[in-house]
Amino acid sequence: SFQWFDAMRRNQPVFHEEQSHTWHIFRYDDIRQVLTDTAHFSSENVPGFSEGTFLNGTVVAKDPPYHRKLRNLVNQAFTPRAVNHLSGRVSEIAQDLLDNVSGNGKMDVVRDIAFPFPAKVIAELLGVPANDWDIFRRWAGAGDEDMQQYTPEQAMKGRQTMENQMYDYFSRLLAERSRSPREDLISSLSVAEIDGERLSEKELVSFCILLLAAGQETTKNLIANALYCFTEDLALQQRLRQEPAMMQSTIEEVLRYLPPVWFTFRRTASDVEFGGKTIPANSIVLVWNASGNRDPEQFPEPDRFDPMREPNRHLTFGHGIHFCIGAPLARLEARILLPMMLEQLKDIRRVPDVPITVRAGIVYVIQSLPITFTA
Ligand code: HEM
Repeated sequence: SFQWFDAMRRNQPVFHEEQSHTWHIFRYDDIRQVLTDTAHFSSENVPGFSEGTFLNGTVVAKDPPYHRKLRNLVNQAFTPRAVNHLSGRVSEIAQDLLDNVSGNGKMDVVRDIAFPFPAKVIAELLGVPANDWDIFRRWAGAGDEDMQQYTPEQAMKGRQTMENQMYDYFSRLLAERSRSPREDLISSLSVAEIDGERLSEKELVSFCILLLAAGQETTKNLIANALYCFTEDLALQQRLRQEPAMMQSTIEEVLRYLPPVWFTFRRTASDVEFGGKTIPANSIVLVWNASGNRDPEQFPEPDRFDPMREPNRHLTFGHGIHFCIGAPLARLEARILLPMMLEQLKDIRRVPDVPITVRAGIVYVIQSLPITFTA
């Protein structure tokens, strides 16, 4: 929790947990240094994007120079222009979802909006046909409800089976688009080229799987966390309706204050001196982005939610060469959806006495957030 971060930042900012042989990093500047120093702190073979899954071969799990090649190729297709191009469709998707619930006077923010919204946007981005929504929806929700009742081994197996299905699906879609290209990411990825090099089929299809893994749960949490903040402070909600220009900095503050991703992993490539200690080669390093976001050296009054905070250089999208490729898309989604919600639904309140359910894991998750409103 944030109190633990606070104590650790002060007393043991570079902390070795003996039992699990894990090193923890808590301070803002240290986090930036670790994430910048890719020679010592590797992204390869870290937990989370581990062996046996396609994600293992993707940008997020690779070091330079191969990372640079993948990222440059992917950047050719994943441009700000391509993202902005989506904004019309993003508004339509948001409006459809709102239309489904606005007459009801109540909804579960997570189930009705926060979950389907990014899934539909990624489907749109990739060019997944609307008919395939039901298949796609299952993949987007995996790791969520279903997986929890299983042992880690079963979950891993389930994950692999699902990834294999996704792999087959995207290979077919890719083959189709190579024959007749459209205005979607798969089509432009398949022709991206640098110095005569293109992405292989495996690189391309794995990247599609990564987009869903990296862009779904995270953005879902951002939307749920924003609604959590808006229902925590009804005056803020009202202020945002009156001063829509405040939305941008409010979203950044939600990202800082309740980050959808709490930490990232690295692995030491060799012994490394850090913060007066020697971290041995091959150690797992847990970088607490969420703690950096509350570091008073960087953020005055870090535990205060300040919708006008400026500057707000939070670490929620990471730092350095792995900085989130999807940040412009996540921001676009939030900047379109949240004002529409405040505009169309008045007096949004949490349902009293119904606890919001929360799960803490690799990401901190609000699983259910029931609200009432007037249309
Ligand atoms: C990387 C967070 C949305 C795609 C990252 C990283 C973080 C992050 C912390 C760095 C990981 C590391 O350093 O190991 C978030 C958050 C999001 C979000 C908080 C939403 C609020 C998205 C979306 C997409 C996306 C919408 C795409 C559809 C990626 C990819 C990478 C990445 C491909 C790997 C980049 C690289 O390794 O070079 N994200 N992300 N993310 N994100 Fe996001």
